[in-house]
Amino acid sequence: MTIRNLCLVLALLVTVPTFADTIAIIGTGNVGMALGTEFAQQGHTIVYGSRSPLGLKALDLAKKTQGNASTASPMEAAAGAEIVVLAVPGMMVKEVVEILGDLSGKLIIDVTNPLVMTEPMVFTYGVASSNGEIVQAAAPDALVVKAFNTIGWQSMINPQNSPGPLYVPIVGNNKAAKEKVAALVKAMGLVPFDLGPIEVAHWTEYAAVVALNNQFSERQAFDLVFRAID
Ligand SMILES: NC(=O)c1ccc[n+]([C@@H]2O[C@H](COP(=O)([O-])OP(=O)(O)OC[C@H]3O[C@@H](n4cnc5c(N)ncnc54)[C@H](OP(=O)(O)O)[C@@H]3O)[C@@H](O)[C@H]2O)c1
Repeated sequence: MTIRNLCLVLALLVTVPTFADTIAIIGTGNVGMALGTEFAQQGHTIVYGSRSPLGLKALDLAKKTQGNASTASPMEAAAGAEIVVLAVPGMMVKEVVEILGDLSGKLIIDVTNPLVMTEPMVFTYGVASSNGEIVQAAAPDALVVKAFNTIGWQSMINPQNSPGPLYVPIVGNNKAAKEKVAALVKAMGLVPFDLGPIEVAHWTEYAAVVALNNQFSERQAFDLVFRAID
């Protein structure tokens, strides 16, 4: 097989939207729970990668997730999955990716924001580049797509509670990988929009800093979401 044909086959494998994948969700917090249960409803098989895979929290989450959801260590979960979702504290993301083993060819969905709390409920941006770029550099042969980081976990589960359609910016270097993430987004009742390459990941991550500082301020002056114009 020529290299061109091999690339075509690989691209096809990434683009077929109806294929049920095994998805490793790394982190069993709010976002891990929201995306794990949502993706399971789409027919994908979920394995939660947890630091405590035999702990009650992870086991309960697997139990309430549709299909044959299971738990494993983060490395075991990633090894058996085509898609790996990073739902861990933003400032830990490089460390987490480094323990996941060989991620070559896998689609990585980075949901993290590099938030640092400098005072109680005051957040700043904690990295010089962006988490999207940090993940892509730590896993250079993986297809990294930044998505879902601008939307609260409650809206991942109940997008219909918003007064209008919610948009999810998608960022990454591989078109087929972004299309695959767009299909996951659409199936959740959300609207994907492609914002550009991984180099612009900081645009969406900064939006999360603004949203959180507003949310936890005494004024809570606005609702920062990407919602369709009426
Ligand atoms: N909350 C939101 O609405 C929201 C929305 C968009 C994006 N985000 C971003 O998504 C990421 C996850 O947010 P979250 O709200 O789900 O956070 P969370 O509730 O605190 O959960 C994070 C999970 O990461 C895992 N983890 C792995 N390494 C860890 C470490 N060193 N220290 C602590 N936990 C570790 C833990 O699962 P195990 O104990 O099972 O390992 C933990 O439950 C963050 O980067 C956040 O900025 C959050």
